[in-house]
Amino acid sequence: MEPLKGLILSGGKGTRLRPITHTSAKQLVPVANKPVLFYGIEAMAAAGIEEVGIIIAPDTGPEIEQVAGDGSRFGVRITYLLQDEPLGLAHAVLTAEPFLGTSPFVMYLGDNLLQGGISDLVAAFREHQPDALILLTAVPDPENYGVAELAPAPAGETGQVVRLVEKPQQPATDLALVGVYMFTGQIHDAARAIEPSARGELEITDAIQHLVDSGMRVEPHIVRGWWKDTGRLEDMLEANRLILDTQVERLDGELIDSRVDGRVVIEAGARLERTTVRGPAIIGAGARLTDCYVGPYTAIGERCEITASEVEHSILLAGCTVSDLDGRMESSLLGRNVSVRRGDRQPRAYRFMVGDNSDISIL
Ligand code: TTP
Repeated sequence: MEPLKGLILSGGKGTRLRPITHTSAKQLVPVANKPVLFYGIEAMAAAGIEEVGIIIAPDTGPEIEQVAGDGSRFGVRITYLLQDEPLGLAHAVLTAEPFLGTSPFVMYLGDNLLQGGISDLVAAFREHQPDALILLTAVPDPENYGVAELAPAPAGETGQVVRLVEKPQQPATDLALVGVYMFTGQIHDAARAIEPSARGELEITDAIQHLVDSGMRVEPHIVRGWWKDTGRLEDMLEANRLILDTQVERLDGELIDSRVDGRVVIEAGARLERTTVRGPAIIGAGARLTDCYVGPYTAIGERCEITASEVEHSILLAGCTVSDLDGRMESSLLGRNVSVRRGDRQPRAYRFMVGDNSDISIL
């Protein structure tokens, strides 16, 4: 088999993560202080893939290029592929055709996280040589996903894919399509053969269905670990929780009259004074925390300054300032350089300066 290439989809609109996506790419939102996108690139490198194409959009592409660079730090070579408009996952495949040629490839949605990486799947793809390999996982709400129907198979085996339906009202199974796929060059003809869906996109489910209908072999794999699509705030926080749960504790920063419990990473140059951090949590380089309580599942970005406040189950991007909060900040996502503070005047009032589509809850 020709060497596998990698294709990461990092374009799209990111409407469900506004306002963060007004100014940055959702694939760059950090999970446990590392951009989501990097987990996909690292999974590819770990599976021995050397050539990685990244689909980017005109607005957010330059920042992605700047952050991920030429790929040398991951041990891969990155080629950036501009998709003028987010016209669907199969459209992204067609956009990448000049880069992919006829090579087999792994396609990975740039806002997805897959526990355990892709090495096993790549091995199965090489060994069984199907025309495509898709990943499936049982979900409680299949109506929100692409759903697969499989042919009957002997006990202990998984039947071939017979049908894929995008967001079915009456799902035939609870097996949702995970955002990692393996394809041979056949997928390009399939992507060319299909028509845009009702939402105006060339759907990858339709292209895979086209493969099935043309008599190609589409092999399903049920994923064993967790899989997370970080397209919405709750998913992003959940991904942060899952990754923080697996981190190894490390204290490189400075603790003054402070205490850390559990799986906590304090990066170099961070300084904690009279502060308690209950892990799993990560405190970024150069952060300053004074008189604080940081609760489980919190990722504090580089250079954040937090004073006299409680933060829990949240992601703060670099350079945020939080001070003198009365209650606990929880389940929150703060963009870069956000400032949240309480004044000391009575009676209490709130003063905000926030962008379009912001979401503020006072509980
Ligand atoms: P989605 O999350 O399905 O789409 P989106 O990014 O437009 O987000 P939203 O629904 O919130 O508006 O996309 C999955 C991944 O694929 C994501 O990393 C963006 C990427 N993508 C492309 O690169 N090109 C495309 O045409 C589309 C639709 C998505």
